[in-house]
Amino acid sequence: MQEQVAVLLARMTLDQKIGQMTQPERMHVTPDEVKRYHIGSVLSGGGSCPGDNRPADWVAMNDAYWAASMEEDGDHLAIPILYGVDAIHGNANVLGATIFPHNIGLGAMRDPDLVERIGVVTAREVRAAGVDWTFAPTLAVAHDPRWGRTYESFSEDPELVAAYAGRMVKGLQDSGVAACAKHWVGDGGTRAGVDQGDTVVDEEELRRVHTAPYTAALEAGVLTVMVSLSSWNGEKCHGHRYLIQDVLKGEMGFRGFVVSDWNGIDPLADDYTEAAVMAVNAGIDMFMVPETWQAFIAGLRERVEWGHVPIERIDDAVARILRVKFLCGLFERPRPWGRRGSNGSSFGSREHREVAREAVRKSLVLLKNDAGVLPLDKGARILVTGPAAHDRGRQCGGFTVEWQGVGGNGAIEGGTSVWEGIRAVAPEAVLWGEGGDGTAVGELPDTHDFDATVVVVGERPYAEGLGDIREPGPVRPGTNHLPAGPGALQPYGNTLELAALHPEALRLIRGLAAQGIPVVTVLISGRPLVVSAELDASRAFVSAWLPGSEGAGVADVLFGDHDFVGRLPMAWPGEMPGGGEGTEGGRGGVLFPRGYGLSATRK
Ligand code: BGC
Repeated sequence: MQEQVAVLLARMTLDQKIGQMTQPERMHVTPDEVKRYHIGSVLSGGGSCPGDNRPADWVAMNDAYWAASMEEDGDHLAIPILYGVDAIHGNANVLGATIFPHNIGLGAMRDPDLVERIGVVTAREVRAAGVDWTFAPTLAVAHDPRWGRTYESFSEDPELVAAYAGRMVKGLQDSGVAACAKHWVGDGGTRAGVDQGDTVVDEEELRRVHTAPYTAALEAGVLTVMVSLSSWNGEKCHGHRYLIQDVLKGEMGFRGFVVSDWNGIDPLADDYTEAAVMAVNAGIDMFMVPETWQAFIAGLRERVEWGHVPIERIDDAVARILRVKFLCGLFERPRPWGRRGSNGSSFGSREHREVAREAVRKSLVLLKNDAGVLPLDKGARILVTGPAAHDRGRQCGGFTVEWQGVGGNGAIEGGTSVWEGIRAVAPEAVLWGEGGDGTAVGELPDTHDFDATVVVVGERPYAEGLGDIREPGPVRPGTNHLPAGPGALQPYGNTLELAALHPEALRLIRGLAAQGIPVVTVLISGRPLVVSAELDASRAFVSAWLPGSEGAGVADVLFGDHDFVGRLPMAWPGEMPGGGEGTEGGRGGVLFPRGYGLSATRK
């Protein structure tokens, strides 16, 4: 295969080589341009979806890009395009996909075998859309729940992240989808949990905590690695030659290709071309330059001609990209419409959803169960309520259909809300209020006809820096399609206290508890929150993370068909961690240590 790569490389012009290294976003590049500029890869940013957003629309789009990339004439070589998406919890951009719990929930399962099966199912649903590459798994080791991407991290424990890394890569890649370990490196270690912030640690700690999971991913043969938008000790990872060239490619022997993150090269220098030169020389091979790809191509070409970037570096980058394309069988695959599994019937199938439901069951962590209120009796009269009780969008979180996720049930086709799962097993259960954000919490229902109440509360969907907890102020947009409207660039809030972020939750829980009925609280959140007041007022308390489309997995456990097996993947704070960016910050008192979790075996 090295031979095939060398032969192809020897035939390529400088324009063709630079084109291979360039990755525009689908909204900003046509199939004609893919051919004209010899583009090597195209991506969808979160929520960037073709047509009616059905698998067939995706296959049609990919087919058109593929056909353009495969035309061969005097000016263009046939090299198949590699299309990338964020299938970070299932192929969740696409309508009707099976949506898995976000990584933090998978961390609670402590089940590497299931993680591999999730990788297999995800890959099948990615291939159903005619796509060959996903920007997953995220191998961040999150240490501060204020970080808006905490839910993308399996755990604060590098060993657990490492134990999952290889299995997820294997599940995806054995099923024909190239994986991408991200974000190299230290994304989860930034001060005060600021997204795209600065990870201030010595090299020993960086290696022990943050690079360790990559060793497992590399052993499993991960084909690509994405660079982090964060910095290490004040230096941007995107320009970090030591970390990329020396450590990852040299010492660790990574032979795949390194891709930059969304506009990740921009902050390296005031001059865009200068930034591009720095990033290429630091060892990045492919460039996610969503809108500015033409400037990237023109600038890099000029600087190679000036000798600012050695041609050997360009050749190395292109050889790595071609090698990955050969290794994942792209040259042998027929056009997307002709591929097995394209627009296939397993997409969103019952069988796939069963795997997600199993993950939901295993990811729930029981934090409190006074007087054995759980498991509930299926014949009991149960009042179900709360803003997250009947909202499939909310339980999926960010990176679902839209970059920032969606609220309500409309955009999540298939699957079950928590309420729908309960209704299916407990015929006497009643939903009070609409269950969505419309739930009227001002007036409370009369509970005297009920035996228990299940209250589902928690965070609204968010992604990246817009999920940060910090003082109000602009969040670097850096990415994707920003939602319109005022406040769009603000962080989620300035406290981890649920009672301050969403006071309606506590009002509801307390109001119901005051009527003497046992309250079972289910928390939907991308991270541990400070919930001491809600815990006190509840008889039982379940952390459900962001369970995804299969809310029925919650009912499986609440009613005792399965026991709680989830254990905290991160310590649970009892108070808000102190300190802002630029300070050491306190961890916040620990209420429950990592590994905590009760069972509710029926007595
Ligand atoms: C994120 C990446 C993601 C990329 C493409 C960036 O904003 O940091 O994790 O893969 O967008 O959507």
